Amino acid sequence: EIKNSSDIIIFGAYGDLSFRKLIPALYHLFNDDYLDADSKIISVSRQKTSQEEHIKLTKEKLIEFIEPELFSEDAFEKFKKLLHAVYVDFSDNDTYKDLKKLLDKSTNEDRISYLSTSPSFFGDICKSLNHWGLIKPSSRVVLEKPIGRDLESAREINNQVLSYFTENQIYRIDHYLGKNTVQNILALRFANRIMMPLWDSTNIDHIQITVAESVGVEGRWGYYDQFGAMRDMIQNHLMQLLCLIAMEPPCSLDANSIRDEKVKVLRSLRPITRENVASNTVRAQYEKGSINGQPVPGYLEGDGVSESTTETFAALKVDIDNWRWNGVPFYIRSGKRMQKRNSEIVIQFKNVPHSIFQNNGEPVSSNRLVITLQPEESITLSLINKVPDLSKNMRLEEVDLELMTPCTLKRKNEAYERLLLDVIRSNPTLFMRLDEVESAWKWVDTILEAWEDNLVPMKKYTAGTNGPSASIQLVAKDGRDWHEE
Ligand code: BG6
Repeated sequence: EIKNSSDIIIFGAYGDLSFRKLIPALYHLFNDDYLDADSKIISVSRQKTSQEEHIKLTKEKLIEFIEPELFSEDAFEKFKKLLHAVYVDFSDNDTYKDLKKLLDKSTNEDRISYLSTSPSFFGDICKSLNHWGLIKPSSRVVLEKPIGRDLESAREINNQVLSYFTENQIYRIDHYLGKNTVQNILALRFANRIMMPLWDSTNIDHIQITVAESVGVEGRWGYYDQFGAMRDMIQNHLMQLLCLIAMEPPCSLDANSIRDEKVKVLRSLRPITRENVASNTVRAQYEKGSINGQPVPGYLEGDGVSESTTETFAALKVDIDNWRWNGVPFYIRSGKRMQKRNSEIVIQFKNVPHSIFQNNGEPVSSNRLVITLQPEESITLSLINKVPDLSKNMRLEEVDLELMTPCTLKRKNEAYERLLLDVIRSNPTLFMRLDEVESAWKWVDTILEAWEDNLVPMKKYTAGTNGPSASIQLVAKDGRDWHEE
């Protein structure tokens, strides 16, 4: 593959995301020869810093955030030549002069602006880039979430960016789509004939999607308290997972074919109304508890907020109104400070139509496919097997067929690496199109409004548990239960 020489401009470069995810991803891409030595990584921020200080700090952060065995002094000596720091006050047009000077000197064809600032600056930044003539037809802009807090604000932000960039120059990132297992859902579903006849309401009883985190807000109070689990996780990451599981086969792997199918799923989601919001949704906040034997304070007891109605946990029952999924509920949940970090998608198959096994009075379980994203990647199909003994009545047990071993890259940052490389290669398949973002907001907005009007009581759960009992109830009232290891 031909190496790429690109100018990558990170706005909000002194923020957490940049040091934790973006710079490490670019460092790995550079070391693996995906980015050539003429490239520039331009860290733009409201921090006035010298080139030496910038390089020193970048090195410290890199050492902090990548696996120790992946850092090498030699490699950093080469990588640091790509690094530039530029001061810009995002909303002050005059301060973009230095950035312009630097870019005017560059001969690189590819120019990528990564907006990792608060979305309230997106419009100003694009406007100034345009004002100083810094947008070329080959330029791309990456928008980090959250893109708004509801449909209206998302539209406003998207429209601001769209005044200066065309839709196919815009890359709206959802890092879950960069995870290897998430992409593997496409392979599992559409490269395996045996999945085809199984993947619908004839054979599937229900589907569960869980993204549980044991971490809390990690110092991001200012952001998190305005967003909460629904806007931070469900509207984007979980809805994207749901789309990949539920979508119809696309006609090709082409970006728009895939996005067309995903958006169809979002449009088929049955709206949750004010009348049934209380029986289909759960919201909750964690109270003090303990995780791995360590005591942790409650959401309202940390150094952040003391009064808040922001949910740190959300669970929903989702119905999809189309032929394939008629009568198959999708239960989805996500929360912070839960028992352990665990993200999984469970496809629960129906029972056999008529069971001939007595199994000593024990119920015979039905097949289950579990796609685990975190902490370790795996795909496991449970089958029912005869216990290999001489007992009089045939006894049955569940055995697991492990379909996949973890990705060989094995870097903490793998998702961002893959997605940045896709931006460099101009491949938007794993990014969200405007209509996807808007459809997701539209569906979520009704629930959020009902929550704001207190139609659903805010529950509490103890940190270190799997959420409030209302979440167990949500599934139990349909005669089902959450899959817990
Ligand atoms: C981010 C959220 O998008 O995803 C965070 O803003 C969350 O609150 C994170 O912790 C989870 O990502 P991952 O890849 O660690 O599951």
